[in-house]
Amino acid sequence: MNDFKRREFIKLSALGFASIALQLNTISSYAQKANGHLGRWNADTQLNWDAFLERLTQLAKSQYQLPWDEKKYTNQVKQLLLQCDFPAFENIKREMEAYENRRPNWFESASLHYEVDFQVSLFQFEKGEYIPHHDHPEMTGVLNVVSGSILTKNYTIEEQLPSSREVVKGGQTSIIKKCVLREVSNEIVKAGNVSALHAHDGNIHSVMPNEFTQLVDVFTPAYKHDTNANWYKVNEDEFYQGQESLFEAEYSRTKF
Ligand SMILES: [Fe+2]
Repeated sequence: MNDFKRREFIKLSALGFASIALQLNTISSYAQKANGHLGRWNADTQLNWDAFLERLTQLAKSQYQLPWDEKKYTNQVKQLLLQCDFPAFENIKREMEAYENRRPNWFESASLHYEVDFQVSLFQFEKGEYIPHHDHPEMTGVLNVVSGSILTKNYTIEEQLPSSREVVKGGQTSIIKKCVLREVSNEIVKAGNVSALHAHDGNIHSVMPNEFTQLVDVFTPAYKHDTNANWYKVNEDEFYQGQESLFEAEYSRTKF
């Protein structure tokens, strides 16, 4: 008899627990939605990861409303990024704790979220792990320095130059073309700050971490399997034909 009662008690406890857990789950998902819901937050509201993604999913749909106001979008993304305390988010904390400098002289990256419309990545750099000038074909990018600081320079293509040359490297032939770039920004971005590039305006950039640095980056749309960046070798020693902010550059699909 005692055994029976005990079993019933355990059964009821398990059921009771399941029901409480279910309700807690509903309450927590309701709270997350409320946190991210339009009109329920302002610029000072701290967002959690779910609210951040929910809002970003809505904003990223603006890329299909042509003509797309990219600057408005990247400003909205900047604002969202500034409302997040990324190192406090469980998924990001895990990635940061698991960090190992596996590739000498090159950054480490982790995908935090991927969908066709946009992706969110975490980049971690040792001091001096420089990313040379490269573009982001038909994409916008907004980065948030979470820790450390970077020197980043952004350029827009001013004009294509007619000359090109072939280079054979490792049995592969690549064509190197020339162009003129306009430097549109050259800034140190410190922890807690953001920087953006657009599909054409400032699409080419270089990133120099001045110390151990962690970035959260939002790319819109996401990289596709056939997205090929161009790598640029910029002659920063002198202005192109003496014109301020213009630089001659060579570019290719393979890194120089
Ligand atoms: Fe980049």
